Amino acid sequence: MQARNDAPVLAIDGPSGTGKGTVGRLVAARLDWHYLDSGAVYRVFAYMADDNGISHHDIDKLTDFSRNLRMSFAPDPSAPAIFCNDLDLTEAIRTERCGELASLYAAVPEVRSVLLDLQRAQQRPPGLVADGRDMGSTVFPDAEVKIYLDASAEERARRRYKQLKEKGFDVSLARLRQEMGERDRRDASRAASPLVVAADASRIDTSDMTIVEVVDAVTRLVETRLDALR
Ligand code: DC
Repeated sequence: MQARNDAPVLAIDGPSGTGKGTVGRLVAARLDWHYLDSGAVYRVFAYMADDNGISHHDIDKLTDFSRNLRMSFAPDPSAPAIFCNDLDLTEAIRTERCGELASLYAAVPEVRSVLLDLQRAQQRPPGLVADGRDMGSTVFPDAEVKIYLDASAEERARRRYKQLKEKGFDVSLARLRQEMGERDRRDASRAASPLVVAADASRIDTSDMTIVEVVDAVTRLVETRLDALR
């Protein structure tokens, strides 16, 4: 059997609302690869820490706390459930508040380093699609394919608004746009593993593309790259 870290990786990075999650899951399903939603990992960490009253400023407590966290993922990318200490947090972590908390805890270098092994352990045959902010730059720097998905701020806020409304959340588009802007600025300006376009990443602006068009483009890039490596 192929060694675990010989499995190819497709790293998809970008700010919130670019469709990374949807695209990542659909490409993983097409290729029959595993899928890692690294944002969900940070969301679960933040949810649990906040629920236990541990602030993102309290580094010692956070480090101790992280030792007792056991996260696990459902293997099917089309039904990506996530559990922590036997709690099913799949839905609970999807609020904007949890996204905001995730961004705050994710700026703490000690938190990032604790969560690194867990993310890398998801790399296994036949391949892994990993989506987040630092997949291509830090977690999987040797990824065979690196994509940076982008879209205008207006379009990203509109997509997130639609997604939240469909889930029954009461949100304001103007407020969402402002909060997403602040979160993106924090994610891109932090010292530890900020959101960057990796030097060898292909940038795709999805503002005027449908999901199917993006999935087709990304899958083509993966297939071309893997053919070239054979
Ligand atoms: O993709 P998302 O909205 O679920 O991510 C939530 C937050 O988690 C995001 O604002 C920043 C953080 N995050 C990160 O720092 N690094 C990653 N690889 C993924 C997410």
